[in-house]
Amino acid sequence: MSVLVTGGTGFIGSHTAVQLAQAGEDIVIIDNFSNSKPEVLGKLKTITGKEMRFYEGDIRDGTVLDKIFSENAIEAVIHFAGLKAVGESVEKPLEYYENNVGGTVNLLEAMKRRGCKKMIFSSSATVYGNDNPVPFVEDMSTSAINPYGWTKVMIEHILESVCASDPEFSAVLLRYFNPIGAHKSGLIGEDPQGIPNNLMPYIMKVAAGELPYLRVYGADYDTVDGTGVRDFIHVVDLADGHVAALRYARAHAGVEAVNLGTGKGTSVFELVSAVEKVTGIKIPYEVVGRRTGDIAICYADASKAKRLFEWKAKRGIEEMCEDSARWALKNKIL
Ligand code: WQD
Repeated sequence: MSVLVTGGTGFIGSHTAVQLAQAGEDIVIIDNFSNSKPEVLGKLKTITGKEMRFYEGDIRDGTVLDKIFSENAIEAVIHFAGLKAVGESVEKPLEYYENNVGGTVNLLEAMKRRGCKKMIFSSSATVYGNDNPVPFVEDMSTSAINPYGWTKVMIEHILESVCASDPEFSAVLLRYFNPIGAHKSGLIGEDPQGIPNNLMPYIMKVAAGELPYLRVYGADYDTVDGTGVRDFIHVVDLADGHVAALRYARAHAGVEAVNLGTGKGTSVFELVSAVEKVTGIKIPYEVVGRRTGDIAICYADASKAKRLFEWKAKRGIEEMCEDSARWALKNKIL
């Protein structure tokens, strides 16, 4: 039996494919390269020593999905494929709903045609919205303040409905906090196209001299130093969380939302300092106004993943910064 990884050449998808392969799983990948590069496939083979069957295609294309399911015995789907830029989702909401929600419904219909009844879904802490108290707990209400977030909320509800309609279906909704870091080899990592929206890839471009300075979006929040606080989690820890979730889904039907975070908050200034410490590179910054939609503090209650999966994040902030820098500066400085 095989595991289909949609979006498997992306940042989190590629790291999860590595950890799954190293756990002995047989991997099939579908990706349309909308936010990743074909050379990632060669790097996955270099890291794992395994050839992963690959189909270039879009989850909105039922024909390519039927081809994958007819040529492979797919037991479970780990579903990463989707658009993920918050700001872009505000400008192009229909593109986000059509890609993320429409694409997921199409994928679930292809799974139904072939009797595949396990999905691990790439959700996000963004579903906790702006009104819940930290630390975020899985039984809290969900909402969103942008179309990207709404697509995650909607897909969670779709999977709840699928599980209610089919008692054999198993869905694990993994709510990621802020993934950073990279595989120790320095061969794969976060590789955003254009100017990064997210903090760590932006800092890395400043460290590499590709951008002049970091804009800190607000230093007047009610936090340890006024800057935003987030639960940064190493992407390899996150990938291991998917391996654990798949093991759980094999033994349990029904739907479960599970946080994948460290349970610790780190501020923007603290992350900048950690990068400067591990790289020896000064990161110039300028404090500017708050970014619309940002919350002050976001971190996980990570106890459910420990309880259900016996999974816990192991890597600390300095290791995340070292691994991000090794990948971003591409010369294995550390
Ligand atoms: C983190 C902190 C910013 C950039 C988003 C999505 C979430 C997930 C991860 C997809 C905040 C500050 C940032 C910069 C800054 N994405 N910041 N200068 O917003 O917590 O989460 O990305 O799944 O769903 O919502 O991550 O890295 O953009 O911001 O000061 O140039 O860094 O204000 O406090 P965020 P982020």
